Amino acid sequence: MNKKSIRDISLYGKAVFIRVDFNVPIKDGRIEDDTRIRGALPTIKYAIEQGAKVVLASHLGRPLKDKKKAEEKGTPYDPSKYSLRPVAERLSDLLGRTVSFEADAVFSPLATLSEGDVVMRENLRLDPGEEKNDPDFAKQLAEGIDVYVNDAFGTAHRAHASTEGITHFVDTCVAGLLMEKELEFLGKALNDPERPFVAILGGAKVSDKIPVIESLIERKVDKLLIGGAMAYTFFKAQGYTVGKSLVEDEMMPKALEIEAQAKAAGVEFLLPTDHQVVDSYDPLNSRKAIQIEFTNAGLVGLDIGPETATVFANALEGAKTIVWNGPMGMFEEKPFDEGTIAIANAVAEATDKGAISIVGGGDSVAAVNQAGLADRISHISTGGGATLEFLAGDVLPGVAALDDK
Ligand code: 3PG
Repeated sequence: MNKKSIRDISLYGKAVFIRVDFNVPIKDGRIEDDTRIRGALPTIKYAIEQGAKVVLASHLGRPLKDKKKAEEKGTPYDPSKYSLRPVAERLSDLLGRTVSFEADAVFSPLATLSEGDVVMRENLRLDPGEEKNDPDFAKQLAEGIDVYVNDAFGTAHRAHASTEGITHFVDTCVAGLLMEKELEFLGKALNDPERPFVAILGGAKVSDKIPVIESLIERKVDKLLIGGAMAYTFFKAQGYTVGKSLVEDEMMPKALEIEAQAKAAGVEFLLPTDHQVVDSYDPLNSRKAIQIEFTNAGLVGLDIGPETATVFANALEGAKTIVWNGPMGMFEEKPFDEGTIAIANAVAEATDKGAISIVGGGDSVAAVNQAGLADRISHISTGGGATLEFLAGDVLPGVAALDDK
């Protein structure tokens, strides 16, 4: 990585602002997945050990946009859903020390902090200046801060006041340990992968993944495996009947173009051969696995079938680099999570045999966690959109703004 790291500078006695991505799912005040909080622990612990006065800041959700939508629709808006207080409590538990909570996004009584103290500020996005990258707000965030650390890889694709603007008001701006790790793993996969290099992409919409697919083909990934509902756009474009499965009709010409690009680049392009379908007129108890070509007009495809799971697992044999982003089916609805779980197992097995594996995206990461496979994956990316933009070859503004080595 060519960006300066938190390990390259002295932190003792300094007021260190660490931008973390604690945008975690919270339901009824309970944190449902703390992967992102755990991901930032090495950086926070390191800063504490080095005697920094630690100020943490993050966004949570999209409070102002949600408020506007609620006002327009006349539905209730609950501001308490956007407080980072439960996150500060979870962080306290994980660190085994007090994390004081500051109910303001800009103010924290820096003068009262001692070396090793940790304070967490309230949700940055409660202030309109954050998403607007307002210089006045960025300046307020930076007040009294000696060192800026960006450990929020998941938000690095946003040019906001806390990810970009603030770097104009702090002299030293460096990457945290999580940021470094993300850039190292993803950067290697993108620019200098060990081969064979296999990418597995899934999810509902092909339109979300087109820049990544094109970037991977350009970089001559050896195999591209496509699952999830996005596969139906390819099938329909090829002339198959896909029944009532999800299709983006306007993306069909692009799908054909992508297949042609893959062929021209010598990339092995694999689509599912079978799938789990339900009868759209009788969705309950009608699940069956059939070959793609036997799909009739009344069926809806909701997962890859067992034959595809085996074909995809075999395609990972001997892989040296694997990147996986996106579920193979309607993961949130059992038993349509089976295809995604099967791929999680196949990726873990390939990793045991020597592949470097990188898994990103909410559902794929959830599948790995649910199946208890997290320890058998080389790197679990904390980014959603950021990981996709990085793999698409885009420069992330939150990374570009950091000091060069
Ligand atoms: C994410 O969850 O992908 C990041 O926290 C960024 O959130 P955003 O899409 O609301 O900017």
